[in-house]
Amino acid sequence: MKIVVLAGGTSTERDVSIVSGTDICTALRSKGHQAILVDVFCGVENVDFTDPFPAEYDVQQASRYMKSFNSRIEEMKATRRSFFGPNVLALCELADFTFLGLHGANGEDGKLQATLDLMGIRYTGTDYLSSAIAMDKGVAKQFFRMHGVPTPNGIVMEKSQRTNDLNALGLSFPVVVKTACGGSSIGVYIVEDQPSFEDALNQGFSYEDTLVIEECIRGTEYTVAVVDGVAYPIVEIVPLERFYDYENKYKPGAVRETCPAPLSEEMTRKMQDYAVKGYHALGLQSYARLDFMMRDNGEMFCLEANTLPGMTPTSLIPQEAAVLGMDYPSLCEELIRISMKKYE
Ligand SMILES: Nc1ncnc2c1ncn2[C@@H]1O[C@H](COP(=O)(O)OP(=O)(O)O)[C@@H](O)[C@H]1O
Ligand SMILES: [Mg+2]
Repeated sequence: MKIVVLAGGTSTERDVSIVSGTDICTALRSKGHQAILVDVFCGVENVDFTDPFPAEYDVQQASRYMKSFNSRIEEMKATRRSFFGPNVLALCELADFTFLGLHGANGEDGKLQATLDLMGIRYTGTDYLSSAIAMDKGVAKQFFRMHGVPTPNGIVMEKSQRTNDLNALGLSFPVVVKTACGGSSIGVYIVEDQPSFEDALNQGFSYEDTLVIEECIRGTEYTVAVVDGVAYPIVEIVPLERFYDYENKYKPGAVRETCPAPLSEEMTRKMQDYAVKGYHALGLQSYARLDFMMRDNGEMFCLEANTLPGMTPTSLIPQEAAVLGMDYPSLCEELIRISMKKYE
């Protein structure tokens, strides 16, 4: 197949996305596909349109080309109107399929999906509406509640209606303050007292105008991929320090990840059932990864759904697939196969 792997972009997760995209492109080429790596925002100059998906292709060189823009993204944003870099959409239109190796804003939030839909470009992952619903943790919480998926008790606070009085919101310490549409734990604060709560509100509102404030669940963290409506094995995530914050997410060895998670068969099935229920609650298609916290007494809570989760070979979904005997290149192909069902 002729495949464009879209990565990069302008979100806070640009760097992670370049790693995901490079590995996905390499994996798909190892499976014999004519895959090329394209930065959604920086694009590619001088495309040879007589042979846009060459048999011989240097993925690492394409990856270095993407990284060469890293220090100039803000500057480029200021001088550009369109989010799409040169030749990006033209290449996607020529491809049989577009693999979304993007994470975060303008990639995971549905706007890109809507654009691709209107252009008749077929892509991996869920559609524009469910992407947008899942992206906003406050909105997703409403859907989880409506469909009986347990989620931490919490509220949405708009910057214009800020209050520092937690009790008036029906909550008490410890709470978690997070930006509604953030990712990678950027803008997530676990707070235990009034001064740190006010500090977290200040910080959170410096990123976004909408925050989610919810009860802090003390316990263990898990994540479950749902692929084509079926739950994969669960990963247990134990950070050696603090919580699963940005540093712990990307520093090798900072967390202990165990898959399949050491849970009883009954608890495993229960969490997987909630993951599938959460997936349907948000109207998700193709695949997603849902994050959970579980108290020692077995009470479990769904924190969020990630619609374009990390896809480096050591990321969480590839670990789950490995337990099912599916290697990383096969998983990349499988995600394309099941994503095609949207177009049947
Ligand atoms: N209600 C909560 N209770 C305890 N820990 C939480 C809670 N919400 C978030 N966290 C911690 O913060 C991390 C990031 O939060 P999450 O809602 O998954 O947002 P994102 O991964 O998009 O940044 C979680 O992986 C978890 O470690
Ligand atoms: Mg998360």
